[in-house]
Amino acid sequence: MTYVSRLLLAAVLMSVTLHAQETRLAATPPMGWNSWNYFAERVDDKDVRAAADALVSTGMRDAGYIYVNIDDTWEGKRDTKGNIQTNSKFPDMKALADYVHSKGLKIGIYSSPGPKTCAGYEGSYGHEAQDAKTYAQWGIDYLKYDLCSFIPEVMEKQARHDPQKADELMKQAYDKMHKALVASDRPIVFSLCQYGFDAPWQWAPSIGGNSWRTTGDISADYDRITLIGFSQAGLSTYAGPGHWNDPDMLEVGNGKLTQNENLTHMSLWVLLAAPLLAGNDLSHMKPQTLSILTNREAIAIDQDSLGVQGDRVTEIGPVEIWAKPLMGGKKAIGLFNRGESALPIALKLSQVDFAGGAAARDVWNAKDLGRLQSSYTVNVPSHGAALLVLSK
Ligand code: GLA
Repeated sequence: MTYVSRLLLAAVLMSVTLHAQETRLAATPPMGWNSWNYFAERVDDKDVRAAADALVSTGMRDAGYIYVNIDDTWEGKRDTKGNIQTNSKFPDMKALADYVHSKGLKIGIYSSPGPKTCAGYEGSYGHEAQDAKTYAQWGIDYLKYDLCSFIPEVMEKQARHDPQKADELMKQAYDKMHKALVASDRPIVFSLCQYGFDAPWQWAPSIGGNSWRTTGDISADYDRITLIGFSQAGLSTYAGPGHWNDPDMLEVGNGKLTQNENLTHMSLWVLLAAPLLAGNDLSHMKPQTLSILTNREAIAIDQDSLGVQGDRVTEIGPVEIWAKPLMGGKKAIGLFNRGESALPIALKLSQVDFAGGAAARDVWNAKDLGRLQSSYTVNVPSHGAALLVLSK
C-alpha cells in the first residue's frame, strides 16, 4: 500500500469512527430538560439542582429525560488566561455537574460561536478549543451552540453583501466548535441553534451536529407551536440516528396552554422524532403535565429505534394527518384539529399504507381499538389531537 493510500485509508477510518461516535451519542432524539422556556435569564444553580431532583422524583428520568441543560446566562467573564468563568448565579459548575451526575443524569451547557450570547453574555468566539476543554473538565455532556452575535459581529462584518461567504463563515464556526469538542476527548452532544438559516438539515450532519434547530424560537402559544410543528413537513428525510431536526424545546405545561393544546404539542413532537427537552418548572407541575410528558407509549414513538421522522400525510382545511414509521412495520398516526370547534376526523387506512386493515391502539386514552378494516373516524376537540399506533 502506498503512503498516499495509507493516508486515505486512515482518513476514511477516522471519519467512520467519528460518525459512529455521533450516532452513539444521539442514537435516538435527546431527551431531558432545558432552563430557558420557563426560567429564562433568572436560572441559577439552585433551579438546576431542583430540576435534577424533580427529574428523579417524578419518574421523568426513568422515562428517558436524562439531560439537564443550562441555557444562556450562566457565563461570567474570562480570567487573565482567557478561561471562561461562571457568574455568581453558578458558583461552582464542576460541583453542579457532579451533583447532576450523582442523580444518574447528564448535564448540558450553552454558548455562542459569536463574541456574545443571545442574552449578551460571554460567547466562545476565538476561544472555542479552550471552552471545549473547560466544558470537558467540568463534566459537561451536551452543548447548545447558539448563533446570535455571530451574525452582526462576524458574518456581516467579514462578508458584507456576500451571503454565500456569510453562510460559509457560519458553517466554519460550527465545524470549529465540533472539532474542539472532539479534541476535548469527552463525548458531548452537539446541538446547533441557528434558527434554520441556510437549511442546516443539509449540512449540519456533515459537521457533526447531533441536532439543529429548524426555526425561530418557540413560545407557550398554540399558534406559535403549531406554526413551527406543522412547518416541519418535508424535513423527514434529513433526520436519522445521530442527527435530528429540532423544532425547539417543549412548552408543555407552560403559559396558558390547554390540555388539548399540550396534547397536540407532544403528539406532534413525538411524530417529528424531535428532541424532547421539557421546558417547564419541573418542581411545580400539574399531574396532567407530568402524565403527558411521561406517557411511555408517546415517548416510545419519539424514541423508536428505526429512527425515522414522521411527515404529513394530508392537510384539509383545519385537519392534519401525520404518520411516522416505526420498527416492526408499525406506524404512529396523528390526527390533528387546528380548528376552533370539534370535528370528526376520518383516517382511511389506505392513506397510511394499511389498506388490508390494521390493529389500532389509541395512545392518549391507553385503549386498544381492535382491528380496523378500512377506516377510522374519531371526534377531535378544537386544538386537540388523537395519537394512534397501527400494526398489521
Ligand atoms: C435564542 C435561542 C433560545 C435561547 C435564547 C437564550 O433565542 O433560540 O432557545 O437559547 O437564545 O438567550
